[in-house]
This record gives sequence, C-alpha cells and structure tokens, in this order.
Amino acid sequence: MSSKLIAPSILAADFGNLQRDIEMVNNSEADWFHIDIMDGVFVPNISYGMPVLEAITKHATKTVDVHLMIIDPDRYIKTFADLGSDILTVHYEACTHLHRTIQAIKAEGMKAGVALNPHTNVNVLEDIINDIDVVLIMSVNPGFGGQSFIENTFNKIKQLKTLIERKEAATKIEIDGGVTDKNAKSLIDAGADILVAGSFVFKSSDQLKTISELKSMIK
Ligand code: DX5
Ligand code: ZN
Repeated sequence: MSSKLIAPSILAADFGNLQRDIEMVNNSEADWFHIDIMDGVFVPNISYGMPVLEAITKHATKTVDVHLMIIDPDRYIKTFADLGSDILTVHYEACTHLHRTIQAIKAEGMKAGVALNPHTNVNVLEDIINDIDVVLIMSVNPGFGGQSFIENTFNKIKQLKTLIERKEAATKIEIDGGVTDKNAKSLIDAGADILVAGSFVFKSSDQLKTISELKSMIK
C-alpha cells in the first residue's frame, strides 16, 4: 500500500452541496480532508469557521487535517480538538512561541503541523523539527484556492528532506497550493508525502476519477 497521501481541500467544494462533496471524498481514494480556516487578518481572505467545520466532521469518515491561517492560533486549540480535528497545523509566521503551541496541540490529542509561507526558509525549523508531525510547505501564498504553483517549492522540499534526515525526525512533508496532475509525481519524487489539491479535484468533471488518477500517479 502506498504511504503517499492525497488530501482534497474543501475550500474548493460546493458549499451549497457540502454534504454531497464530503461523501464524495469519503467514497474516493483520497486519504485526508484538508480544511482551510482563514481569519482575514493573517491572510487577506475569510473562509469558514467552527459551525462549518462541525458540519464537515459530522460526515467525514477520514482524517481531518485542519490548516489554520489565523493569528494567535493558541486561543482556539481546544476548540479545534473538540470539533474533531485530527491534525492541527499552525503557521510558523503566526506563532511567537511555536514550541509551546506544538505541545498544546499534542496535549489535546492531535497531531501537530507547522506551515511555512513561500518566503520562509525551512531551516527555521532546525531546532523543533523532531517535535513536528507534519510540515506543510505552502506552494502558493496562503489565502486563496486556484493560484499558480511556485516552482521554488521543489528546492524547499529537498532542503526540508535533508533536514529531516539529518535530525532523524519522523516528520512528513505536505504540499499545499497549485497541485495538479502536472506536478504531483515530481513533488513526490522530490520528497513530499502528502499532496493537498483543491481546485484540481473539485473543478474537474469527474472528481472521483481525478482523485483516483492522482493517487495512482504517486504510488
Ligand atoms: C490556500 C489553501 C489551500 C487551497 C489549495 O491558502 O491553504 O489549501 O485550498 O487550493 P488549490 O489546490 O486550488 O491551489
Ligand atoms: Zn491549506
């Protein structure tokens, strides 16, 4: 069985038919639900919040991967745990006391993720990599779906992989933004473990087939 994962981003789903789209992911070969929470302050957009996440976790039968694009994420760690998040990812750029934040996420029984904006060098995680379950490399500037993939992501994956191996960490590498059938395999070959895909999955005419094709591409 492949250990490489696909995580459809619900940001690109049809919110008028949210349950239908969640069931589609349940019935697909996808591995995780990727849920983008935006506050309009850390990023220039507002997505959705707790009531929508509650509706999602009520129907989702797979791992719920929550990506917080918010300032002061510490204020909501318990809330996101109570709402059924399995993985909680915070932005490096939004955390003054990242070590404390990661410990608080784990204390609530969730896996801890740290996201890096495109301009943030992976080496800032040197002293904390062994505590992190997942590093999410943003391959677009966070805030919107449907943007173009930033090619420098490939360099960042390789640098992060080197850091993880040097530190003998078990950290997984997740890529978020602009993932399509054109770059999926190269991302995995470069060292990625999890690919988030929003528009490419939900804007396709046959979503189940698109997920299945992405999945077989990265096996
Ligand atoms: C962007 C979000 C992404 C987004 C990806 O800020 O973090 O998860 O939904 O969407 P696509 O795959 O359309 O770039
Ligand atoms: Zn995301």
